[in-house]
Amino acid sequence: MGIVRMGPPTELVCELRRTFRITKFIESGTFLGDTAYWASKLFEKVVTIERSDSIYRQTKQKYGYINNIEFLYGDTKHKLPEILSNIGAPAIFWLDAHWCGGQSYGKGDECPLIQEIETINKSSYDNFIFIDDARLFMSPPPRPHLIDQWPDISMISNSLTSVHNGRYIVIIEDVIIAVPIFAKSIVAQYCQQINTKLWENCDTTNFRKGLALICQDLKKCVRFPKKIANNLFNLDRK
Ligand SMILES: C[S@@+](CC[C@H](N)C(=O)[O-])C[C@H]1O[C@@H](n2cnc3c(N)ncnc32)[C@H](O)[C@@H]1O
Repeated sequence: MGIVRMGPPTELVCELRRTFRITKFIESGTFLGDTAYWASKLFEKVVTIERSDSIYRQTKQKYGYINNIEFLYGDTKHKLPEILSNIGAPAIFWLDAHWCGGQSYGKGDECPLIQEIETINKSSYDNFIFIDDARLFMSPPPRPHLIDQWPDISMISNSLTSVHNGRYIVIIEDVIIAVPIFAKSIVAQYCQQINTKLWENCDTTNFRKGLALICQDLKKCVRFPKKIANNLFNLDRK
């Protein structure tokens, strides 16, 4: 599945914000508020929704002093339509609401993602959608999650593409990204850069591993002078 990063792909979010002058960041699932805090330094306005009462109060106490974050208590299924009804311009959505154990909301109502996407689809603006934890949708989530409470990747893809203008969709760094077609080249370039770095690193690592294996075999059948042996047989430790 490649890299799993914590939080949004920051460089890409920054570039989209800059290029398309996006001023709002909307998050479903506030949790401890770290993403909202990060976004508050970049965006004019951040709105974040949390349905667990204890988490909402705890996070509001921690970050409530930040003026450009609006902390909403409630279910994203009800709060997102309200937000979208007077959004005023395209926004970046970070969809991350789901049950994740502990004090989090959602046991028995584990994942509101499809309703969230359908709400965003009704917007008259070309919004930018980032969905965290792609691995939980690409195949069934681990126990104790209930498989039937989670949309699978085809349901998500159908919902994301059912808008009139279509969207460009990729999955990278454990995030499903769906952007208006006019933003395709920025997202595609970002992904290619990440994948090229991964490929190059993987290439050198595999080359080293292969060479180390050959050296191990050589060691068994050839007696090398000490200096050469040191160089060859320590390859896998370099
Ligand atoms: C994975 S955490 C979010 C992490 C956070 N977005 C971040 O980047 O740090 C998921 C959060 O979603 C909340 N949640 C789950 N279902 C929800 C719903 N239907 N409406 C609002 N919040 C919900 C949970 O209580 C939990 O705090």
